[in-house]
Amino acid sequence: MLEIFPIRAFSDNYIWTLVEGEQAIVVDPGDPKPVLETFNKLKLDLKSIIITHHHFDHSGGIQELKDHFNCDVYGPGGGHIQGISSPLSDNEEFELLGKKFIALSTPGHTLDQLAYYSEEACSEPILFCGDTLFSAGCGRIFEGTPLQMHESISRFSILPENTKVYCGHEYTQSNLAFAITVEPGNQFIKDKIEAVDKLRALDKETLPSDIGSELKINPFMRCEEKTVIDAAANYSGSELKEAHEVLGAIRDWKDNF
Ligand SMILES: [Fe+2]
Repeated sequence: MLEIFPIRAFSDNYIWTLVEGEQAIVVDPGDPKPVLETFNKLKLDLKSIIITHHHFDHSGGIQELKDHFNCDVYGPGGGHIQGISSPLSDNEEFELLGKKFIALSTPGHTLDQLAYYSEEACSEPILFCGDTLFSAGCGRIFEGTPLQMHESISRFSILPENTKVYCGHEYTQSNLAFAITVEPGNQFIKDKIEAVDKLRALDKETLPSDIGSELKINPFMRCEEKTVIDAAANYSGSELKEAHEVLGAIRDWKDNF
């Protein structure tokens, strides 16, 4: 079983680190410095890097870490991210530290976005979802469409409820402030706010989350719930028939929140 912990980078990025013995993997090393410091201190060897998307705060550390550790780099194909040695596409399976992972294409935030899922790496299934899904929120739609984002998030909704969700940023507290505005009567969101406020007051991570909890608190996973549909229609001033239209409306609302 792999051990997982975050290395913090920039103001709110998490570089998730998977360790077995002295061997390790990092997810989205935007900044090489904290990775090198941590690996030096813990005497770890970096075997592989996995990349979810091209944004610099997720991929900026590839070259320096590759030069230092001579590691493999898995990530979106297409040749637009320098340093990727093992390009992956949708539903492609691969092994990290002897454990099977699968890449899931999840466009919306960017078009190249891949998420990584494994049922066997830890005692419970794990998901690295980059900037597609956050706890109580989702990524901004920079390159894709609300339909693509809805389809991507729907791929996560059908994963086992105990799947641990490792997101790329610590955005939970601000996402919850928006989630409770969309669904003021949602007791699960109220309870989560209380728990998250306590963690953040101690400067602790609010992640990983899990799919079961996100299905109860995340408005972007709840676009077929009447409360969310009504709130989105009220915000947009129009009738919203499709779930992706609901998602588009609440994403716009959040962008202006
Ligand atoms: Fe991003």
